[in-house]
Amino acid sequence: MARLYDNRKRILVAGGAGFLGSHLCDRLLDQGHEVLCVDNLFTGAKRNLNHLHANPRFEFLRHDVCFPLYVEVDEIYNLACPASPIHYQHDPVQTTKTSVHGAINLLGLAKRLKVKILQASTSEVYGNPTEHPQTESYWGNVNPIGARSCYDEGKRCAETLFFDYHRQHGLAIKVARIFNTYGPRMHPADGRVVSNFIMQALRGEAITLYGDGSQTRSFCYVDDLITGLVSLMETGPEVTGPINIGNPAEFTIRELAELCREKTGSESELVHRPLPQDDPRQRRPDISLAKTVLDWSPEVALSDGLDRTIDYFKKLMAAARH
Ligand SMILES: NC(=O)c1ccc[n+]([C@@H]2O[C@H](COP(=O)([O-])OP(=O)(O)OC[C@H]3O[C@@H](n4cnc5c(N)ncnc54)[C@H](O)[C@@H]3O)[C@@H](O)[C@H]2O)c1
Repeated sequence: MARLYDNRKRILVAGGAGFLGSHLCDRLLDQGHEVLCVDNLFTGAKRNLNHLHANPRFEFLRHDVCFPLYVEVDEIYNLACPASPIHYQHDPVQTTKTSVHGAINLLGLAKRLKVKILQASTSEVYGNPTEHPQTESYWGNVNPIGARSCYDEGKRCAETLFFDYHRQHGLAIKVARIFNTYGPRMHPADGRVVSNFIMQALRGEAITLYGDGSQTRSFCYVDDLITGLVSLMETGPEVTGPINIGNPAEFTIRELAELCREKTGSESELVHRPLPQDDPRQRRPDISLAKTVLDWSPEVALSDGLDRTIDYFKKLMAAARH
């Protein structure tokens, strides 16, 4: 859609009240764009957007992406989907619907408006991988009927839809495969490993490690991730992805737990619980493609990112006490 002034665009962020979405809204507003944030507030929170309501370039619309949306925008980011197992397993049918119907509705909108659309896909499309690290050409090892399948298969189907809209309708698509990301505005009760460990350490509760804690994960700080998403959106039509965006530095879950305990000054003990079904042993992105195509690589070290995240959770706990 042609705009009459500068490079300012009107950008739709579906899932914009969530952890990543709210940081994306911040970044796009900082760049001078207008942002239309669409969210049904299932896992997102109004507090993530409180600081934006006074901004005349920001608009919030409460809407479920499972239903069609008629708005006029220049670009679309689709982040709408619960991302943590606790949340996406709460109503698995709704999770699949959000991924699949949400993708269809937003792709339909992008097709009508002839605008670029970016999908926040996930490393979960690789399932319990048999290749390490995972490159984009790896097709994955996903259980189609397990407790995590609503999320994994929903996201895989969304990718399929994106590529079919691209092939069939010539739509300009961007698919980012996001690996574990953490930072301020994560939901404190989302059960994800970073928020879990920090909250347990801050409350002086036992820190729960699933399995023996030797499984590894990589953790990307939210600011790095947002830079990656925005860089991907800025690429020309020849770049579709999928492109891995994450931090390849690998840590065992035990190392993370010990770091969280040390940084919070907590005396919490580490306790072990059985591994959940389909929990991958190892997960690490190969980001060669992002480095080459986007000239992107993460810059924030885990230690610094954890400090900022711990600070956020401390403030959240203090606010809840007043
Ligand atoms: N955070 C990560 O580590 C990570 C990793 C891989 C992929 N992703 C993807 O990035 C996106 C954002 O993740 P997040 O960590 O910010 O999660 P989040 O749960 O904080 O954000 C998701 C947002 O989508 C909204 N939403 C859910 N269903 C919706 C619906 N039907 N209609 C409208 N809005 C809806 C929620 O209310 C929430 O605000 C998700 O698509 C997720 O799958 C995140």
